[in-house]
Amino acid sequence: PLSGIDPDDVGEVWSLPMRIFGIEGDEKHGIPPLVMGHAITGVRSGRISRVKSTYFCTPIAIGCTWDPDLYSRVGEAMAVEMRALGQDLNLGPTMNIIRHPLGGRNWESFSEDPLLTRRLAVPFIRAMQEGGVICCPKHFAANNQEHQRFDINNILDEQTLREIYLPAFEAAVREGEALAIMAAYNRVNGQYMCENMRLLRELLREEWGFDGIVVSDFAKAMQSTAGSVRAGVTIEMDAPCHYGEPLVAACREGRVEESEIDLLLKDKLRVMQRMGMMNDRPSVPRTHVHSRAHRAIAGEVARRAPVLLKNRDSLLPLSSRSGCIGVIGPNSTRFSGLRPEDGSYALYLQGGGSGRCFYVYDAIREPLVSLQEAAGPELTIRHAPGCPPPNGETFPAAMVEDLRRNAVTIAAESDTAVLFCGLSGFVETEGIDRSSCKLPPEQEALILEVAAVQPRTVVCLICGGYIDVSAWIDEVAALLFCPYAGEMIGDGIADILFGRVSPRGRLPFSWPTSADAYPPSTYFSGEAHSETGESNRYDEGIFVGYRHLARHPESILYPFGFGLGYTTFSYSDARCTMITNESDPVCMLSVVVNNTGDAEGTEVVQVYIHDVESSRPRPARELREFRVVSLQPGESRRVQFELRRDMFAGFNPARNAWEVEPGHFEIMIGASERDIRAVLPLAWT
Ligand code: BGC
Repeated sequence: PLSGIDPDDVGEVWSLPMRIFGIEGDEKHGIPPLVMGHAITGVRSGRISRVKSTYFCTPIAIGCTWDPDLYSRVGEAMAVEMRALGQDLNLGPTMNIIRHPLGGRNWESFSEDPLLTRRLAVPFIRAMQEGGVICCPKHFAANNQEHQRFDINNILDEQTLREIYLPAFEAAVREGEALAIMAAYNRVNGQYMCENMRLLRELLREEWGFDGIVVSDFAKAMQSTAGSVRAGVTIEMDAPCHYGEPLVAACREGRVEESEIDLLLKDKLRVMQRMGMMNDRPSVPRTHVHSRAHRAIAGEVARRAPVLLKNRDSLLPLSSRSGCIGVIGPNSTRFSGLRPEDGSYALYLQGGGSGRCFYVYDAIREPLVSLQEAAGPELTIRHAPGCPPPNGETFPAAMVEDLRRNAVTIAAESDTAVLFCGLSGFVETEGIDRSSCKLPPEQEALILEVAAVQPRTVVCLICGGYIDVSAWIDEVAALLFCPYAGEMIGDGIADILFGRVSPRGRLPFSWPTSADAYPPSTYFSGEAHSETGESNRYDEGIFVGYRHLARHPESILYPFGFGLGYTTFSYSDARCTMITNESDPVCMLSVVVNNTGDAEGTEVVQVYIHDVESSRPRPARELREFRVVSLQPGESRRVQFELRRDMFAGFNPARNAWEVEPGHFEIMIGASERDIRAVLPLAWT
């Protein structure tokens, strides 16, 4: 572990005890320490330090943007902040797939889809490493729930691993050239990840050619000394139980060869050398942390992430010029009782756990303040919290009743009610899965009572994932899903509500009518409720998220890839030709997209493929490409895609290889997984 580092070297801190993550240097041999931190939402060092940084985004908000270029800019900016705060390695990004809506860390993941995850994470990793910070994608592999997270034994077949849970990691290594990777706590097919020879040694190192640093997940992840050396774990985090002295002893006793340790050390030193860490790197001034430029990037995320799910009779956008808006709901302002001194403030508008950052207290744009500032002089805004905060506590019925009554009166007296409901880092957090997919009951009651007196009711759900809206969705006029989208979140929402920008977010996960739509195996199957970490079977196989729901379309409320804007788009003249490029066939696909409405707008053009003649069951469609296009009213553009062989391939477990089965495929171009606008047949011979 790292000691002897002056907390002042790693940024502005408050007076709490400080613990920095990292590895000691060796002055005699000129090896500097390797300081680790997190850049998941914003830069955060050790477990309890309070370094203040720009809160840029959450991964789920980036998932909603479908915008790799934007996330690459976030990566570049986060690298600058990490360097300025003395950090060399980012313990991220979190690349696990959203398997079930209750997953506690879903907000820290990008999507239920491997391709979307991969497309977003790879440019981020490249940008961050170009900026001099090592990326450590995590948690490798099949780490999809918090329940029994230290021991759960996830049983998956090879095809499911290869097609769903590994592609983003593989791309992070092969395309992103990630220099580190974090081995997860859980077991996969019986072996703890930190000694999983199959995945860590054979797949990651031998097949994918990874020669960087394998970091164990933190306390309790490693089970043994020799097993982890053999599997290729470079660094044990955080207090050494199996490396350090036990490693020296194992070496003396002949259980571990010195040459095996040398190989691991070489990996670490090679990475540090590649990043220029062995030389005196120019320092990055602290003034770059939370700079105006970085705040502007956070502003882009905040405008691009919200997803408009419902907009009856085009109620949105609202006029910012006149009338009266009742701004109601617990997420409209910072919860009372949250304090800067103990860091609890940062559970507002963010998920909880190691991924959150301690943003600059006064920098967060609360929705109420943003709306008040955006309102013209003739627009009145009245405010009521409406119910207690979503912090996991239960409150006296009389208090709840009072808050609600007051809010309902304001809603009735206003022209429009905008409700800010949702969750917080108290209930969406590392270490524990959500206990329910519904909003807290007091929020459901509030929405229903407000909607009963105010037909123009807009609900903004500020949270990190799926909410079962069935109890109230038919009663409200509009629904905006606002993922935790960084410190400028309130401004982004105000811009959308008042029509300064057209909403452009798209769902990176499916939104079913209820969580019962998921196969039972996706939620703690097998013996997982026992405390022994028994097997948790991924019996749904490759049928995760929309791949499963497509078989039950009646249970889809808002499909994967869906999101409304303030305009409409038509698709025409879809074309597909095969060309042979250096003996490799490539499918050249294009379609004309036209903005047919009278507002500017951004469309996410999505390409799905269905292997019609496969010998094994295949999903009805799988995302294989997408492109973001912004068009003015009346403007049209031809959008082009190149689909290579691997986009048509599936993993054949019998041959242990990816292969394209000859036969018929359908290429589908659409605005969501359900809204397919063109189907093109293709024969692969
Ligand atoms: C989490 C990791 C995190 C680490 C350090 C672990 O419990 O699973 O994601 O990087 O703690 O905070």
